[in-house]
Amino acid sequence: MPAAPFDDRARFDARDKVTGRTAYSADVQLPNMLYAMAVPATIAKGRVVEVATADALRVPGVVRVLTAADFGKPSPPPPGARGLGAAPATPTILPDIAYRGAPIALVVAESIEAAVEGAEAVRAQYAAAAAFSSTITSPGRVHEPVEPTEAGSASTAMKRATTRVDVEYDCPAQHHNAIELLSTVAVWAGGRLTIYEAAQGAQVVKANVAKALALDPAIIDVKSIYIGGGFGQKGTPQRQAPLVARAAMLLGRPVKLVMPRGQVFHNASFRPSSRHRIRIGADPAGKMIAVEYDAEHQQSRFGQFPPEYHESQPQMYGIADYHGTAANVRIDTQGPGYMRAPFPHPASFAFEGAVDELAYKLGKDPVAFRLEHDATVDPINGNPLSSRFLNECITEGARRFGWDRRRAEPGSMVLPDGTRVGFGIGCGAYPAITSANIAKLRIAADGTTRFAVSAHEMGQGIRTVIAAALLRELDINPDRLDLQIGDTSIVPQHLTAGSWGTASVMPAIDAAAAKMKAAFAGLIAGRQVSGNMHRQLAALKRPYIEVEVTTLAPGQDPKVLDGLRNYGYALAGPEYPRFTTFSYIAHFAEVHVEPRTCRVRVPRVVSVVDCGRVISPRTAESQVRGGVIWGIGSALREETDVDARFGGWLNNDLADYVVPVNADVGEIEVAFIDRPDPLINATGAKGLGEVSMVGASGAIANAVFHATGKRIRRMPIRIEHLL
Ligand code: MOS
Repeated sequence: MPAAPFDDRARFDARDKVTGRTAYSADVQLPNMLYAMAVPATIAKGRVVEVATADALRVPGVVRVLTAADFGKPSPPPPGARGLGAAPATPTILPDIAYRGAPIALVVAESIEAAVEGAEAVRAQYAAAAAFSSTITSPGRVHEPVEPTEAGSASTAMKRATTRVDVEYDCPAQHHNAIELLSTVAVWAGGRLTIYEAAQGAQVVKANVAKALALDPAIIDVKSIYIGGGFGQKGTPQRQAPLVARAAMLLGRPVKLVMPRGQVFHNASFRPSSRHRIRIGADPAGKMIAVEYDAEHQQSRFGQFPPEYHESQPQMYGIADYHGTAANVRIDTQGPGYMRAPFPHPASFAFEGAVDELAYKLGKDPVAFRLEHDATVDPINGNPLSSRFLNECITEGARRFGWDRRRAEPGSMVLPDGTRVGFGIGCGAYPAITSANIAKLRIAADGTTRFAVSAHEMGQGIRTVIAAALLRELDINPDRLDLQIGDTSIVPQHLTAGSWGTASVMPAIDAAAAKMKAAFAGLIAGRQVSGNMHRQLAALKRPYIEVEVTTLAPGQDPKVLDGLRNYGYALAGPEYPRFTTFSYIAHFAEVHVEPRTCRVRVPRVVSVVDCGRVISPRTAESQVRGGVIWGIGSALREETDVDARFGGWLNNDLADYVVPVNADVGEIEVAFIDRPDPLINATGAKGLGEVSMVGASGAIANAVFHATGKRIRRMPIRIEHLL
């Protein structure tokens, strides 16, 4: 481990981005290109009897209208299918309508305007179902429990407890709302299908399109070079790619679809609403000894997004006697999916609230109470925990925040104008997962370096991380570095999600750099060469050296590389064969509740993170700011409402789906423990993107309680809850 810190360069792609040279999928312009627009179903459930396309085809410029007849029958999900590899293909255009807004046709035209006009002219006749379920409390919902999680005996330990809380927390449905819409361009030429799509998993898109259209994956290339915000929505395969690909193949011309935001709300995955009933028992010393956690979430009729809310928080506090259950509540909606910290975020809002309630009930300081629950063992499988600096995060955060200025009594900190001030803490953990990787590194005498690896740049700064790490290892030109990521035609692309991007590229960089240095040493073999690696190659009269490496996560069988090649999925962790490891965070929030309006402001948040070794301080800090802003949004603003009469989402645009703006965001101070995890990889990097949000909303809700004495057990917290 070198002593010097990594080079904190400016963002690798900053210049291209601010000068507008960065091309996102929607920017791909090709000769002879056609434009597509989907036609959404106007019923919530039922069947399309007939799609009338004549009017649409009369619109000047409309070339073709694809309907269910242009697609094969979908294959049914294999029994017990779960996970990306086993998952069935996303549906294409089907006569059966499973949710309001499902595509019933795709209009393809010479211009975007003609495609929109054509889509508006498509008429459909439906046989609508008489009843449908639009929320997790609607009649007709199907409650489907999944396998419970058990450690020790929660029921026995609960009997020993002398102080208990038994509370229920609710989290709403939310949508990601990346600024970049879902965009796909498909090109069919010379027997190959090339897809440009804003996707976190180019390989996932490839596998999904192959399945949905019954194509040989070997003829498909997917390129996802830059993404304008993913947040998990662009990790789950979405409906549009197979539709656009089919259109391109039928018409023999490139086709582009940029899905309007209202359709993204209805067709893409979203964060499902969830309910969390939590019972915690503490012994006479005030130690949490038992947890019973029952979670359920909104699910589509056939969706496979698992309800995994009930483990991470009790695991974080090392609670040995624990019982967790979870259930899908199946209703008539589109499939929910991953959204930033998909399980730990809602679970931490609920659990950090419950822990806070217990601390107040015990008369303990909420910070001291958490510090008393340090852990060294994973209670679920008995593994030792690898690096865990949660208590360091809490202690450092409390110091920076000035927690010692807090007065214990809720409602006791009041400004001269009557504004009530609250201090709150919320902690979080996120599994440190890693993927196998395949990389190619080529250094050339002409001064260029090319590094191809599995990763996707969705704005989080992975290219900056890769550049910083490569430049630390190799004496190469920093400004002639070509980083080829997100392209299945170069090396297989893992789904970039679950905060495993950095921890999965670092071993590949280390291995490629070591192999490259060995190749140089062999070539030089005692001769005198000087200058950087490019000049050395020139002196040796070698145009270039290329090395290829494959890397595995701790304990991984090389067979997982097939998963990486075939569907972009070769993960391990957080439970590795001999250890378990998480990233950790402690958030401290100050809220101000205005005296008459009860408007809640968040002037200040301090967040301290243990993500292992920090590779790129600049991008790391902005990840955490982003996570805190998401926490503010979730705690105080965001909720996608259903219109129960018609199904579908009501506030399906950025005017009505309210996210925090700059005026809602106060000072955010970020600090890192920056100590390497000794076991996960040689660099010691865990994950950061998602843990940065975990516990943030809980800290705000706990601060609202401290300010007002009102415990609001739902998100978002609105003025009407505090009046
Ligand atoms: Mo993330 S929600 O795993 O892209």
